[in-house]
Amino acid sequence: MKVFQTVHDIQKCLLEINDKHGKTFGFVPTMGALHQGHLSLIQSSKEKTDITVASIFVNPTQFNDQKDFEKYPIQIDKDLEMLLDAGCDIVLVPSVEEVYPYGTVEKTGVNLGFLGKTLEAEHRKGHYEGVLQVVKRLLDIVQPDFLFLGQKDYQQCLVLSKLIEHYHLPIQLEICPTLREKDGLAMSSRNMRLTAEERTMALQLSASLFYIKEHINDFPIKTLIETELEKLNQYDLIKTEYLEIVNGKTLKKIKHFNPKIPTVALIAAKVGEIRLIDNVIIT
Ligand code: PAF
Repeated sequence: MKVFQTVHDIQKCLLEINDKHGKTFGFVPTMGALHQGHLSLIQSSKEKTDITVASIFVNPTQFNDQKDFEKYPIQIDKDLEMLLDAGCDIVLVPSVEEVYPYGTVEKTGVNLGFLGKTLEAEHRKGHYEGVLQVVKRLLDIVQPDFLFLGQKDYQQCLVLSKLIEHYHLPIQLEICPTLREKDGLAMSSRNMRLTAEERTMALQLSASLFYIKEHINDFPIKTLIETELEKLNQYDLIKTEYLEIVNGKTLKKIKHFNPKIPTVALIAAKVGEIRLIDNVIIT
């Protein structure tokens, strides 16, 4: 596995591979603190492409909360070991200066429309502008054929598909299923910051989503959401930001369930100090 810190060095390597062998490239962008969910993206990339490239970069421009940025777990050596074991071919671990040589003021011109106003966008102002900015830059550097993202960041997948569409990038987006712990908790780098008590409480989030999926035909949407919010609100440690059942393509709220329309339930909540998100595809 080759590890690069500069744009110049990784691009030299990628060009050499491309010129000599005409290989396909899969790209897995990460912010490190890797878990099995990330490794499953590496696995998918290995199955689909010739060369798998990952990046580890905690992007400062996508954090709306400075404290969250400062506390974001960093474990580069362990991450590199995990990527090596997973069979990743190339890793970029750039500095802020390498990613943003001209500073961070200039954002992309992607118009997200409603996607940029709802759910995560509403609760984390500026978050997706930062995600678009860093992913555009990383895609320009790596120029992959395939981009692998996790369904756990459902809205991010829609946002980045808009990025690809906006710039007509010749990149195929592959969305890989959310990996869960045995008890249902969605894998996340943030889970490692939960105390034992918070970890137990965090299970209520996926439990609510699973309940909604199971009972989507049994109650009106409004009742399902109210009941689940009430359950979650019983716990002092949980502060729900949103729990919504929406059209899986537009993210607009749905009033009545129609199995023919893509539907997804999404949740964001703080468990103690840790903000978690999760979602379940209903149809
Ligand atoms: O999902 C993430 O880890 C980040 O948002 C991403 C896509 C690596 C961009 O920083």
